[in-house]
Amino acid sequence: MAGKITVVGAGFYGSTTAQRIAEYDLVDEVVLTDIVEGKPEGLALDLNQSRPIEHFETKVVGATTTVEGGGYEATAGSDVVVITAGLPRKPGMSRMDLIETNARIVRGVAENVAKHSPGAVIIVVSNPLDEMTALTQLASQFPYNRVIGQAGMLDTARFSYFVADALAVAVGSVRTLTLGSHGDTMVPVPSRCTVDGRPLIDLMPAEKIEELVVRTRNGGAEVVALLKTGSAYYAPSAAAARMAKAVIEDSGAVMPVCAWVDGEYGINGVYLGVEAELGREGIRRVVETNLTDTELQGLREAAAAVRIKQADVQSL
Ligand code: NAI
Ligand code: 2OP
Repeated sequence: MAGKITVVGAGFYGSTTAQRIAEYDLVDEVVLTDIVEGKPEGLALDLNQSRPIEHFETKVVGATTTVEGGGYEATAGSDVVVITAGLPRKPGMSRMDLIETNARIVRGVAENVAKHSPGAVIIVVSNPLDEMTALTQLASQFPYNRVIGQAGMLDTARFSYFVADALAVAVGSVRTLTLGSHGDTMVPVPSRCTVDGRPLIDLMPAEKIEELVVRTRNGGAEVVALLKTGSAYYAPSAAAARMAKAVIEDSGAVMPVCAWVDGEYGINGVYLGVEAELGREGIRRVVETNLTDTELQGLREAAAAVRIKQADVQSL
């Protein structure tokens, strides 16, 4: 067990991510930060008191930070930093409605992270995800491979769950894939979806698959509408924690993530949801998969749409 992971933002997403990572018993220290005084320290104390029951030795450290960078010393030398700081959606809001406020928050956080943990891999989760990932790379000035966004793991998990539920099979027997953006231009890849190795398209009518795709695309909004305040965090935190684990373990696991794409699929210069191999350096390589013409066209359209929005964040 060695290493240090910082989670910035001790809200629902951040605190559950810190909990999951600590319970993996993977690193020496998880640092949880927030600008709300006492909140990260209180949560850290509570998490540490769960250690004798849950049997993990990872120490959780809480640190109140300021937007100017006060308190970031506690995060110094982190191997991985997960950025969850920012507002979540309210019912009726799109992820894009958060862009100006969250860009201000994420830019400041990324600058402070870069200063104190210059060798870290940053995993971004704040919304709108694709734009905040691009902004984090700009603000940190980190190489592209060391800034990754979390969205595909979550969207894929939602799709897999809906398929398993519809067919009344174990979630573990289902493989699905979504690429593209965490938003309206999410690209489901039915040709890569299987149940116990059998193609999904042989097991479900096309209209039913499309219904589940639409539900997956609206998966975040469905939870927001039910919760009425705040957004999902159990599945999202599981996704970010698994990515952090793959980096720390230098595992080479291939996961759907938001990565810098420059040449793959004939797409250039954009952060986009693709499959990629994760290791200690962040993204080892983008893994191209065989797509049907329709899926490839969808991916290229998603790239064009998010490229425009990512160019806008430079001025935010
Ligand atoms: P939350 O409101 O529970 O927590 C956000 C926390 O960030 C608050 O505690 C707040 O005080 C803190 N914060 C604000 N400015 C900060 C700063 N400068 N430094 C440190 N902390 C700061 O929200 P929640 O549910 O934790 O969501 C966090 C973000 O994650 C939202 O933007 C949400 O939309 C996004 N999200 C992304 C998903 C994805 O798949 N990428 C899935 C679910 C949520
Ligand atoms: C989600 O998909 C809101 O992005 C968040 O749950």
